[in-house]
Amino acid sequence: RPRTKQRRRSPTPLPLAAQTHLTYPSPDPTSGPAPAFQQPTPLISFSYTPAHELEFTDSALRYFLPPPRRAQLAHAYDRWVRRPEERARVDSLLRALSTARARAHPALTSAVGAVAWRGVITRILTAPYEERDGWDLNVMCVRGVLYLEEHRSEAILREKNDMVPRQLLQTYFGYAFESYCTSATPDGVNVPQRPGDPPGWGGDVNTNVQWCSVVRTKLGDTRLVIGGEVDCVRGKYTGKTDTFVELKTSMSIRGEQDEVRFEKKLLKFYMQSFLLGVPEIVVGFRTPAGEVKTTQTFKTVEIPRLVRGKAHAWDPTVCLRWGDTFLRFLQTHCRAGEDGQEDMVWRAVFRPKVGVELVLLDKAGVDDVVGGEDRV
Ligand code: A3P
Ligand code: MG
Ligand code: MG
Repeated sequence: RPRTKQRRRSPTPLPLAAQTHLTYPSPDPTSGPAPAFQQPTPLISFSYTPAHELEFTDSALRYFLPPPRRAQLAHAYDRWVRRPEERARVDSLLRALSTARARAHPALTSAVGAVAWRGVITRILTAPYEERDGWDLNVMCVRGVLYLEEHRSEAILREKNDMVPRQLLQTYFGYAFESYCTSATPDGVNVPQRPGDPPGWGGDVNTNVQWCSVVRTKLGDTRLVIGGEVDCVRGKYTGKTDTFVELKTSMSIRGEQDEVRFEKKLLKFYMQSFLLGVPEIVVGFRTPAGEVKTTQTFKTVEIPRLVRGKAHAWDPTVCLRWGDTFLRFLQTHCRAGEDGQEDMVWRAVFRPKVGVELVLLDKAGVDDVVGGEDRV
């Protein structure tokens, strides 16, 4: 966790000291070499227990198991222990980073440019193709390191917590697929634990439980520390990312329109996995009622080739160029500050097809945003 100077918060919001824009596309994202992306290497892993307590163990690590035929994803919906949606803060990621530092991880000797959850970096990199959803980020610059955090407004949080029953069930389908596809022990089999549990059911869903890997990588010249949930590993956890598996569900493809929709969605699947070095994505194709019809395994590196040349194609090099430009833009503006020294909080506001606006939010509120000393 970055140490920040303690200052008294000003009673009224500071006037906007700076406003900076990065319009899209800027620079032309369709030409020029793609910035290099370094193969991610894990720094540390941690687990959230069923009570959502963070511990530096692999207790929540799950092992891949082929799902049973015709898995019913609505199973045990009434027993889902659901973690409420909240602000996705970087606190636990910072705690993991400082633990890795305390263990003197050899890869942490050189400077880090930016720290964020994988979801944030996925949103940044997929922005060139985003047609619908904007995003707001808190950007904290502490001693030269950028900490990026999604800013969820009250309205967004309310929306996520008040999902209509249909939406909630569909979200559950994704977690139920994880249960069918994983076991708590390597090479395990899932034995039904309750009367009525179908063959292969891996236990009731508790979305408090997560296994996370924090990796180190580099985009262009920016060294990144990225944390993300990993659904399971194939065989065993090697301390590298080579056995990581991402699980996904998607509606069965019945026509050309479905195929286009799926191939557009593949960008998010791809980027999410690519950023953490996850080499394999297992997709369960389901009916609207939640019956898995087929599963298909995608090798992450091969996904871009599946869409290349199509009308709705996306190109990962466009994403990498944009991401590199965006991160350098943040470094230039957020690091400089007014006097070059301050720890400051900025808000980066992305609107699809428009670009990013960077606004100085507060120069005294780093602790408010990152969390006070006692919170980590
Ligand atoms: P699917 O992946 O089958 O959609 P992840 O895929 O990232 O491992 O997430 C697991 C599940 O969490 C998803 O299953 C989905 O059900 C739910 N989920 C993830 N992100 C979500 C979001 N932004 N909104 C709603 N549900 C989400
Ligand atoms: Mg997951
Ligand atoms: Mg998943």
